[in-house]
Amino acid sequence: MTDHLTAFWHWYVVIITIVSMIACGVLLWAQTTKRLPAGTKPELHGNVWDEDLTEYNHPLPNWWRWLFYLTLLFGALYLAIYPGLGGFAGQAGWSSAGQYNAEVKQADADFGPVFAKFSAVDIPTLAKDAQANAVGQRLFLNYCAQCHGSDAAGGKGFPNLRDKDWLYGGDPATIVATLTNGRNGVMPALGDAIGGETGAKEMAQYVRSLAGLQHDANMAAAAAPKFAICAACHGADGKGNRQLGAPNLTDDIWLYGSSVEDISYTIKNGRGVNQLVEGQSAMPAQGEKLGPAKIHLLAAYVYGLGGGEPPIVEKAEPASTAPTAPPADVKTPAPSAPSPAPPKGK
Ligand code: HEC
Ligand code: HEC
Repeated sequence: MTDHLTAFWHWYVVIITIVSMIACGVLLWAQTTKRLPAGTKPELHGNVWDEDLTEYNHPLPNWWRWLFYLTLLFGALYLAIYPGLGGFAGQAGWSSAGQYNAEVKQADADFGPVFAKFSAVDIPTLAKDAQANAVGQRLFLNYCAQCHGSDAAGGKGFPNLRDKDWLYGGDPATIVATLTNGRNGVMPALGDAIGGETGAKEMAQYVRSLAGLQHDANMAAAAAPKFAICAACHGADGKGNRQLGAPNLTDDIWLYGSSVEDISYTIKNGRGVNQLVEGQSAMPAQGEKLGPAKIHLLAAYVYGLGGGEPPIVEKAEPASTAPTAPPADVKTPAPSAPSPAPPKGK
């Protein structure tokens, strides 16, 4: 809190607070210590309310007066112990950030072993673990549902995570990479490249033909040669490219919709360029926020939703398994060379 206060504002707050507290005390004292001299009767104040309601100038009852003093005392003690008086941290050293950090530390200590247990299990196995899925689902509802939906079925611009159609891939390592680093597949705006409004409409018909949807065959045929522009990312057959997150256009699963309007909008304006523009979206990186243990659980949860793909096994390099002859100029040690004697007694 001291970060926000310059010395001037610190003292400004301190002085106003202390002076007002003292002033309240003095006012209270001055107003309540006057006692009527023995034998005099309390006088009526001049005020009359509601026709006949009048007021004596009695001093405050003692219990009430002391409540006021106690309030002042409480305020002074509070400001001595807790932060509040300008930049003073308070005697107890308490701060909301400190309390938060302590709670996070406590939670890490409490849940660390649980997470560690889960982290040791590989994702396809973990995806079948009911307890891990329950934790994964709670994390998903907290961190992912606002975009992918509480059932993970997605929405316009936000992929469905329940199906077997993947932009980037559904194997464990790819899901972990997606969550950790985020994704922003970029479909460039290609209106000009393919002949403006008409070109985009024709291309939309061609894309619909790829997906086996009803389409205008003449318009599709007119656009077919121009698909070379698209093939760089979506592939010559339109089946997509996971390296780029370019969707498969032949499977009738749509991120942004299958109508001629939606498809030609995509072609003219591009998608995924800037998530702040309407119709654009990106997957934010979660690595720093969530850390590897939570990402592991979330990946297992997503993996188990129905579309998980088997892990990609690195192809073994043939050179490392085949016995190789040492290069001619490397001298192998003579078999007679003395080797250190093994330690005795073991
Ligand atoms: C701000 C919205 C947003 C949030 C929050 C978000 N995502 Fe995403 N996610 C997206 C978008 C948009 C994409 C598609 C990115 C693209 O098209 O390049 C995506 C893509 C993905 C993919 C890749 C799907 C595929 O087909 O390859 C996975 C997996 C995923 N998200 C999981 C998650 C999980 C798990 C969380 C919670 C930790 C999460 N997302 C949080 C918006 C979001
Ligand atoms: C530079 C690579 C690239 C090129 C070139 C490209 N696209 Fe795309 N396209 C993408 C990516 C990446 C996405 C996904 C965007 C996202 O995830 O937000 C996409 C999305 C789409 C979509 C939306 C699919 C859906 O499921 O809703 C359509 C339709 C599409 N492209 C058609 C085309 C056509 C037609 C062309 C050629 C005129 C083309 N693209 C050229 C990369 C490309």
